[in-house]
Amino acid sequence: KAARKVAVLPGDGIGPEVMKEALKVLKRTAELFPKCAMTFEHGNIGGAGFDAHGEHFPAVTKALCERSDAILFGSVGGPVQEQHMPKWKDCEKNSLLGLRKAFDLAVNVRPAKVYPTLAHCSPLRSELLKDGVDMVIIRELLGGIYFGEHTTEGDSAKDVCTYTVAQIRRPLEFAFQAAKGRKGKLTVVDKANVLDTSRLWRKVATEMAKDHPEVTMDFMYVDNAAMQLIKAPASFDVICTENMFGDILSDAASVLPGSLGLMPSASLGSKLYLYEPSGGSAPDIAGKGVANPAAQILCGAMMLRYSFGEEAAAAAIEAAVDQAILSGVLTGDIAPPGTKSVSTSVFGDAVVAAMKA
Ligand code: NAD
Ligand code: IPM
Ligand code: MN
Repeated sequence: KAARKVAVLPGDGIGPEVMKEALKVLKRTAELFPKCAMTFEHGNIGGAGFDAHGEHFPAVTKALCERSDAILFGSVGGPVQEQHMPKWKDCEKNSLLGLRKAFDLAVNVRPAKVYPTLAHCSPLRSELLKDGVDMVIIRELLGGIYFGEHTTEGDSAKDVCTYTVAQIRRPLEFAFQAAKGRKGKLTVVDKANVLDTSRLWRKVATEMAKDHPEVTMDFMYVDNAAMQLIKAPASFDVICTENMFGDILSDAASVLPGSLGLMPSASLGSKLYLYEPSGGSAPDIAGKGVANPAAQILCGAMMLRYSFGEEAAAAAIEAAVDQAILSGVLTGDIAPPGTKSVSTSVFGDAVVAAMKA
């Protein structure tokens, strides 16, 4: 079997630092699992694309993706206070939203898991986590307010939120299937007390639920969901929601295990898929060698699972990350206050060392 071609787009901020560790782990994976041979070709995206080619999503980068079997994405964007500078203006929209649109990446999968043994890394009281937390957020990625019309006229600005039945069905279909392979519980999060788009989501979900009697579905308003995620995190299994609610809730859920640096994501579409940490370029810690590379490493596992069907190799990476963390190799974002933390590359090395075929 020919080696799979991976387009590697490290991007900005901590992107290149955490990508380096993910590639170390993937190379080790290919040694242990010879079926997983991969080639890695790098491309510029985001601010890095702007520096190299004057564009956030250069044509050469798009061409690289088109000839690849999967896209491993780091993060894009500059410091939050510098959004207006030419290098950063519209960077995330042009690059990341551009990629999602170009490759029809409609379904975004964001898992959050807390092991009772690691409850001390979470900012939550450990009794809230004693039942273990294991949820996955399925976020619609190509609709809603992100892709509606955006206009500014004089003193007013407008962002339009639109959904079609077909757009709603795609993440929900994935969510029902995911629930079947898990605890069988699906929570559809919306704001149906106010929004027409949310009412349409409810209608579509209710109809689809008839075809999935083995799944227990319920609805929850997004404001309550934000609260329940923190208050009763063990009560969730699969959450499915629209684009912006999913963006916000997934950052909130990442704090359950302790950090955004632990949450990978897979963006699935019709053919070529993209894997990106749920968090951003973290300008506050970029260049210091302290970022947690776990999310980027776990993106590699998701790529092996969803793009290449290599479940054993994916599970081996996940087990190695678990083992590194369980053995107390912790980056600063999850090391309990007053304890010693390790660098980005030491964590990566620990994962490589823990890899087993
Ligand atoms: P952010 O996710 O970059 O950072 C939020 C906080 O989480 C920061 O304190 C950061 O240090 C921490 N953090 C994030 N990832 C971490 C990791 N791997 N290890 C340790 N700590 C980590 O969000 P922000 O500060 O709001 O945004 C910064 C830039 O990133 C902006 O330009 C934003 O648009 C962009 N962004 C990009 C993506 C993406 O590329 N997928 C996602 C979110 C934000
Ligand atoms: C994410 C990010 C992006 C989003 C931004 C950078 C456009 O926050 O992937 O969660 O909002 O989708
Ligand atoms: Mn986000």
